[in-house]
Amino acid sequence: MRTGRSGPKCLRLGVDRLLNKGGIVNRTAILGTGAAVPKKVITNKDLESIVETSDEWIATRTGIKSRHIAEDGETTSTLATEAARRALEMAGVKPEELDMIVVGTTSPDMIMPNTGALVQKNLGASKAFAFDVYAACSGFVYALTIADKFIKESPGKKALAIGSELLSSITDWQDRNTCVLFGDAAGAVLLSGSSDGDRGILSTHLNSDGCLWELLYIPGGGCIYPPSAEMAEKRDYCIRMHGNEVFKHAVRSMADVAREAISANDLKPDDVDLFIPHQANIRIMNAVAERLKISPDRVYMNIERYGNTSSASIPVALDEANRSGRLKPGDLVLLDAFGG
Ligand code: COA
Repeated sequence: MRTGRSGPKCLRLGVDRLLNKGGIVNRTAILGTGAAVPKKVITNKDLESIVETSDEWIATRTGIKSRHIAEDGETTSTLATEAARRALEMAGVKPEELDMIVVGTTSPDMIMPNTGALVQKNLGASKAFAFDVYAACSGFVYALTIADKFIKESPGKKALAIGSELLSSITDWQDRNTCVLFGDAAGAVLLSGSSDGDRGILSTHLNSDGCLWELLYIPGGGCIYPPSAEMAEKRDYCIRMHGNEVFKHAVRSMADVAREAISANDLKPDDVDLFIPHQANIRIMNAVAERLKISPDRVYMNIERYGNTSSASIPVALDEANRSGRLKPGDLVLLDAFGG
């Protein structure tokens, strides 16, 4: 995707060169970004008193130094609402103008209603329909893809795509293999149509492999293993993971899908000005960038401060890059995620 001439506050994402030949093209543009994190910060040192681990192990194996963890009153929908308000404010759009709200999350406030509906209520977005996408750490990219298709169909409409997680609520705080990795956060983008040929989402590419489900999953809480005292006692409502295997598949699939996106647009990795990968592990991000031959100065990383915030990680990073001026007019930006 390409950032616009009007500066970092108004992102211009990508150019579909094939469509461009035809003259005026309607694409989905990001008009505003926003993010929100809980106030409380837990450092690696703090974790040393919870499980047998060390700041040194966590920092060198993952790149994480601290993460934000929700306290009473902070939920997936409240963080999502805060991030959404910031995106709306940047875009100069009122909640009543919204047509659609889609939230990527694996840690909804509750099973029903969906988190999007709660965000709709909080914002007072009376006209919008709302729903969630359940695609783990890829949730935001899925939400963005769905919103992009919706806006392409109706360019005058306005949509919010959000990634929001309270992973702390589904983390086993006795499992050092997982509890050192995750954090809570939300990120949002406000989307609408643009006929500016140099602006808009270029393309989106999604793949799944359900055969790998046992590498990263939550055993309890669904219809196979409904909530029970036994489930709670075993903390089976929490994330289970085979870290090594996830690592290998993550590097391979993120590099593959990035290549797919780049070549589908007749571009080269060298054309990418800013690569924003899902912030799961600094070693995964470096390995993917190396495979793609994208130099480290073009890779956006904030995992050190937030940990892995699942579907929130990309929109939080995008918002930071946008607000800090890291995104320059005309930049081509590549977003890339993988997850359970
Ligand atoms: N502190 C200290 N030691 C730890 C530890 C912790 N928090 N967690 C695991 N260890 C230990 C292991 O028990 C193991 O000890 P052993 O050699 O005595 O058995 C050792 O460290 C190495 O464990 P290993 O799992 O091989 O480490 P790793 O280099 O693969 O790193 C991950 C572990 C989880 C950081 C890494 O595999 C990873 O990031 N995977 C991807 C996970 C991910 O991205 N998940 C989310 C997807 S969206």
